Amino acid sequence: MPTELTIVVPTLNEAGNIVALADALERALQGVAWDVIFVDDDSTDGTGEVLRALSQQRPHVRYLRRVGRRGLSSACIEGMLATPAPVIAVMDADLQHDETLLPEMLRRLRERHLDIVVASRFAEGGSAQGLSSASRERMSRLGNRLCRMVMKADVSDPLSGFFMLRRELVDEVVHSLSGKGFKILLDIFASARRPLAFDEVGMVFRQRHAGDSKLDTLIILEFAILLADKAVGKVVPIRFVLFVMVGLLGMALHLLLLSAFFRGAAMPFLPAQTLATAGAMLVNFTLDNRFTYRDRRLKGREFLRGLALFFVACSIGALVNFQMAEFLYQGGTPWPIAGLLGAVIGAVWNFGVNSTVTWRRKGPDALSA
Ligand code: GDD
Ligand code: MN
Repeated sequence: MPTELTIVVPTLNEAGNIVALADALERALQGVAWDVIFVDDDSTDGTGEVLRALSQQRPHVRYLRRVGRRGLSSACIEGMLATPAPVIAVMDADLQHDETLLPEMLRRLRERHLDIVVASRFAEGGSAQGLSSASRERMSRLGNRLCRMVMKADVSDPLSGFFMLRRELVDEVVHSLSGKGFKILLDIFASARRPLAFDEVGMVFRQRHAGDSKLDTLIILEFAILLADKAVGKVVPIRFVLFVMVGLLGMALHLLLLSAFFRGAAMPFLPAQTLATAGAMLVNFTLDNRFTYRDRRLKGREFLRGLALFFVACSIGALVNFQMAEFLYQGGTPWPIAGLLGAVIGAVWNFGVNSTVTWRRKGPDALSA
């Protein structure tokens, strides 16, 4: 019998959960032609070995290994693309998601011809009790509210990592998915060019079975960027917004350093100004490397080379800024406007040159695609 349903399970260091999940799925899905694809990002805790052994023993279990790659979303996408099944579900490996809901989700998807069914902690019959702390729960609610602002559907739990969809929907959105970060469901809704036919089932979010959560601050930040990108990314590239924010921070830091060297340490003005500029540029470069261009992050020798290029590019940017402002001012433009336009043109120059030279793109551009 051809596979009706594939469960895609992203894994990163989940060795203690794999067998328990496979057992639970087997119990829950009797009478369904199903399989499960574990997409593992080269875990270091032996998850790969467990998966290899299990996929030898059990016909339902498949193991997809990725190396040199990271990311919940992209793992889910690649798992979804690796199956011919007409219906696909995505869930966590740690047994936080109630697998006994799967048959009901499948029934609704089919009977009501839906595109997607979401297991929700905030729908009737659901609960978020398994979240590790009250602050984590608050954050999750806040995130949900922000999400609903950018999606076209009133889903009560757009951050849910547990849902089931038709493969046609995957094919429809796959080229538009950002594939970044954690929030694959939100990404699917936001990438569909039409309102999706969906339904929700209440889910009681359980405690993690074994191991630790992989959700950290950087992932939350990436999530905020994903939201912003979906909301206004078509108008202003988010990378540019980040670049300008880092730049403004650099200006503040520059003043702070200058006052410390010039007033605090009583240095002569020019050396104080030079040191302050160098310090601010170094911090700007490090921040841009970490956030603005994090998908092209430079390390080791590349970092030093990038730093030098950044210094040169920004110095030229400053010259462009001065020239432009002076030109405008001489031409009769009022000084605040001449000054501001000079700064804007300098920023655009800096952004353009640093995007194409310092952080030269190597692969396809995941952020602004
Ligand atoms: N392949 C791969 N690569 N898998 C990953 C990665 C990665 O970089 N990061 C996390 N995973 C896997 C984990 O192994 C787990 O199976 C699943 O993705 C979810 O990660 P958790 O670390 O368990 O996330 P969580 O429990 O903190 O977050 C849950 O709640 C969120 C809502 O608050 C998840 O269900 C999220 O999907 C959900 O959005
Ligand atoms: Mn989890």
